[in-house]
Amino acid sequence: MNYRHAFHAGNFADVFKHAFLMMALETLRAKDKPFVVVDTHAGIGLYDLAGTEAGKTGEWEQGIGRLTGRDDLPQPLQPYVQAIRDLNPDGGLRWYPGSPWLEAKALRQKDRLIACELHPEDAPALDHNLRRFGGVRVENADGYAVLKGQVPPPERRGLVLIDPPFERTDEIDVIIRALRSAVKRWASGSYAIWYPIKDPAATMAFHEAVAGLAADGVTSAWALDLMVRPPRWSDTLNGCGFVFINPPWGVLKAAEAVMPWLTAVLEQQPGARWTGRWLVGEG
Ligand SMILES: C[S@@+](CC[C@H](N)C(=O)[O-])C[C@H]1O[C@@H](n2cnc3c(N)ncnc32)[C@H](O)[C@@H]1O
Repeated sequence: MNYRHAFHAGNFADVFKHAFLMMALETLRAKDKPFVVVDTHAGIGLYDLAGTEAGKTGEWEQGIGRLTGRDDLPQPLQPYVQAIRDLNPDGGLRWYPGSPWLEAKALRQKDRLIACELHPEDAPALDHNLRRFGGVRVENADGYAVLKGQVPPPERRGLVLIDPPFERTDEIDVIIRALRSAVKRWASGSYAIWYPIKDPAATMAFHEAVAGLAADGVTSAWALDLMVRPPRWSDTLNGCGFVFINPPWGVLKAAEAVMPWLTAVLEQQPGARWTGRWLVGEG
């Protein structure tokens, strides 16, 4: 396990991921009923952009660094950017939240978060960083195995975030297997799977595999892709995407309003673009 998210915290991919995660959480909070969030690949939850790792890559400068000073944020992005402003009350940009931080912050007293992190050093760091929140359980375990044991949850309402490092060459197969097993037992849950886009052909193959989950009972799946540059080289991170199974309505509603603005702001080379398309069903 070589991947450490601290090198990439706050980059364009995190901005995209965390902005839409916040919109999904807002949708869950809009109803009174309790919900659960299962974050299968949680990281450490809080990142120091002035630290050694983030300083080595400077990736956040082309990500969250492009958003915090803007006064023309589309409304659906405001809760996300506000969460970062809350973490940096002096107006600077030093602390950046990971997905489990945003999820823990969104919980009400009746809601739960299960945050999984396999790395033996990162799991205790995550536990420490989330200590201030109630309703959170940190598992130092394989997120796919934890997911299997948690579905269907007693709340019958909630979100699963799957955000692996894609270090293993068979990660897509592992994701599809985990989804197949989870949706069979919890068909109504929302699942959000983040993926890097290097070679668009690999993304298409992933989308096709998700479409195949219709045979396992998936009735609704939607893919949202962001390319920050045209994919001229397939060994660099040219973009990223989310597949949403049972997409939260807040996400669908916000995409049209947010993506043109976000794509322009995060563009790294001329030719940035975004697409949203149904893989299963039409909403
Ligand atoms: C992309 S990072 C997660 C970032 C986090 N979701 C966020 O948005 O702030 C992926 C994390 O998954 C962890 N990891 C890798 N394989 C795992 C597994 N099978 N189960 C749980 N965590 C795993 C890595 O140590 C790494 O911290």
